[in-house]
This record gives sequence, structure tokens and C-alpha cells, in this order.
Amino acid sequence: MSDTAMATEGRMPCSDLDFWADEVIATPYPHYKALRDAGPAVWLSRYNAWAVVRHRNVRDALVNQEVFTSTAGIGLNDEANRNSEGVMIFSDDPDHQRLRRVFNRPLLPGALNKLKERLSALAEARVDELVGKGEFEAVTGLAHYLPLTVVTDLLGLTEEGKKKMLFWAAGLFDALGPAGNPRTITGIAIAVEAFTYLHGLEREALDPDGWAAGLFRAADNGDLSLSEARHMLMDYTGPALDTTINGLSSALWLFARHPDQWDLLRANPDLLGRAIDEVLRMESPVRSFARLISRDHDMDGVRMRKGDRALMVYASANRDERRYSEPERFDITRDARDHVAFGYGMHLCAGMHLAKLEIGTVLNFLIRRVRRFHIVEERREIHNLLRGLSKLTLRVDPA
Ligand code: HEM
Repeated sequence: MSDTAMATEGRMPCSDLDFWADEVIATPYPHYKALRDAGPAVWLSRYNAWAVVRHRNVRDALVNQEVFTSTAGIGLNDEANRNSEGVMIFSDDPDHQRLRRVFNRPLLPGALNKLKERLSALAEARVDELVGKGEFEAVTGLAHYLPLTVVTDLLGLTEEGKKKMLFWAAGLFDALGPAGNPRTITGIAIAVEAFTYLHGLEREALDPDGWAAGLFRAADNGDLSLSEARHMLMDYTGPALDTTINGLSSALWLFARHPDQWDLLRANPDLLGRAIDEVLRMESPVRSFARLISRDHDMDGVRMRKGDRALMVYASANRDERRYSEPERFDITRDARDHVAFGYGMHLCAGMHLAKLEIGTVLNFLIRRVRRFHIVEERREIHNLLRGLSKLTLRVDPA
């Protein structure tokens, strides 16, 4: 069978697609379509795991934690899952709900309101500086800027933690890939370094006003155990940076490639919210997380067995033609609010409002300062779980 060949053994759609091959990661969308056409869930024979690929099925599975559990790990290999035991994203309700209530405190819209002024001032100065240059590298120059200045500050780790957070975060996501994959192996080593740092942190070394210190205070108040607080440091450290960085880089990349949509947004800035959702639908920063199937399950006629792992392929669900008409078309007038780029259900991204605020703040200044983006150079990052660019050099025509 060729890489994308499909077979249907009985009631089991099956594919020998190399889901983690560099070229599949770089150009995934035709492969996702082939998988969606084959069934609601397709058995990836090279990896002994299911890919759940259609929009409705991904959402249904994400709210069915009785069957699709996170407690046994959201990675595809046992080592990363074992190392991450106790982390909030690796838990189910009711425990998860209790942890999440504490975790959410600094991330709710009310708390984020206080951040708006600071983010705006920083974004405006950086956008002015870069647009003044006429040409700039947008991933490190612009997309990194707010996450690396503001978010690392808010979390309030030590200087070592602040410096290494981005490096650790990429490794933590790579670690969740299939066993034996070179990116997974490197990712696991990086994740071990990050866990060692976080678990050894002295609370006195933390910024007392930061999110991290807030977890220890919650433990003092009896809302969490000390061990839970320590594990949850990872929930702030892992997903807070490159997810947002990739979202903003992809926004710039899409608007450079679709100048009509940039014109439309500049003429109608009130479309900004829709535009952000459409960017995340088109170029979902997180490709997939996994679940363990805790009992035999029938997914629209496909029999899934207890003990199998299933990937929730958000990036495929977001291009599902059963849900979105012309899903390959970038259209900022589309109502894509029900995309699953932030997941869905109980594990819906805890940083969603922050991420949208950061991306929206930067785009808001670009709308006023940039008439046209031209791509000078781009390089796609090959990563087990994250989709984004490692380089995007842009030339801009000022407004
Ligand atoms: C565009 C940016 C972002 C994207 C695309 C994204 C994507 C996701 C996705 C797909 C999930 C679902 C996980 C699952 O189903 O198991 C998730 C959960 C989560 N995200 Fe994000 N994320 C982003 C930004 C952030 C930020 C800025 C933070 C900062 C704190 C964050 C923290 C989390 C946490 C803690 C969870 C787990 C929630 C839980 O277990 O209840 N994310 N994110």
C-alpha cells in the first residue's frame, strides 16, 4: 500500500499513512482529507492508534471522558505519559474540575482586562519599530514578543525558568509524539529537564505576584495539595508560549498570502474576532492530542477497542467539509467560532482568552500601520504536535 492507501477491514477504516513523516507534517491537509473520507476514525497501522478526524466526532469524543480518558495520558508514548502524571491536562473530572478552578483564576476575562493597557503599549511600540524598518523577521521579531515579555513575567518563574521556558515548551509538546521518533526522544529529554526544574523550585524564589506563586498559595488555603500545585506549574509552563506564537505567525502568513482578506479586515476592523478564529481554524497551532479508550466504543459504526489510543486531530476537524463549506478557503467573514483549535469540553484551552488578546492586540496595530505584507522568506517548523513557522521574513508597505 502507498503511504496514503486506505483499507477497510470489516468495519475498521485503516491507513498506513506515516502521520509523523516530515512531508506529512509540512503539508498535512490532503492527508487529513483522505483520512476524513475514509471514516470518522481511521486506524493508523504504523502507529497502532486511531486518528479521529471529523469535526463532530472530535467534539463528541472530547466531551466523553468516560470513554476517552486523559488521565492515562494525552501523549502517544508511555514514557511521556508516565512522566506527566498529576499534570492537570492529564486528568479527568471531578479532580480536573477542582484543579481547573484554581488554575483559571489569573486567566479569566476580568483578570485579563488589567493586562490590556500593558499589552497595547508594548505591541504598539514594537509594531512601529518593525514597520519603520520596512522588512523584518516576524516570528522572533513580532510573534515571540508579547508571550516572551509579558507571559513569562506573569508566570513569575526564576530567571532560569524565564529564559528556558520556550525551549522547554517545544520539547514538552514533541515529547508527546510516538515512541521511538527522534523528535519524541529529544522532547522527552527536554521535558525531564523542565520537570526537574519545576519540581525543585523553591517557592521563595518565585515572584510573589505571579501565577506560579498563586498555586502555592492555593495549596496553603487547602484548595490543592502541594504536589498538585507543583505538577500544575507545568500546565502554565508548557502550553502558554509557542501555541500563541504559532497562531500569530500563521495569521501574518495567511494575510500575506491573501491580501484581499487583509484589505477586508482593514476596512472592517470589527471582523477581528472572526478573523482570529478563522486563522486558528485554517492553521490550528496544535495538531492533535491523544486520549486512551477506556472501554469498547462504537464511533458511527467504527469499532474502537478498550486500551487503544486515539488522536483528536483538531487540525483535521477544523477543515472538515461536513462542517465548513469550502474549508480550504481563508474567509474572515466566516463564523468559525465552533472550531476546535482550542479543544472542546472540559479541557477547552485555559489560555484561550489570553491567546486571543495577545494575537488581537498585535493585529489591531498592524491593521492601522500596514497596507500590504510581502513574504520574503519562510521556513516551516517540523514538529510532532505544533504547526507553525520558524522563520517568516516580511516586507511591508506602510499604511
Ligand atoms: C493560540 C493559542 C493556543 C492554542 C491553539 C491552544 C490549544 C489548546 C488545545 C487544543 C487544548 C486542549 C487540550 C486537550 O484537549 O487535551 C488546550 C488546553 C490547554 N491550554 Fe491551550 N492553547 C493556546 C494557548 C494557551 C495559552 C496562552 C495558555 C496559557 C496558560 C494555554 C494553556 C492551556 C492549558 C492549561 C490547557 C489544559 C486545560 C485543561 O486541562 O483543562 N493555552 N490548549
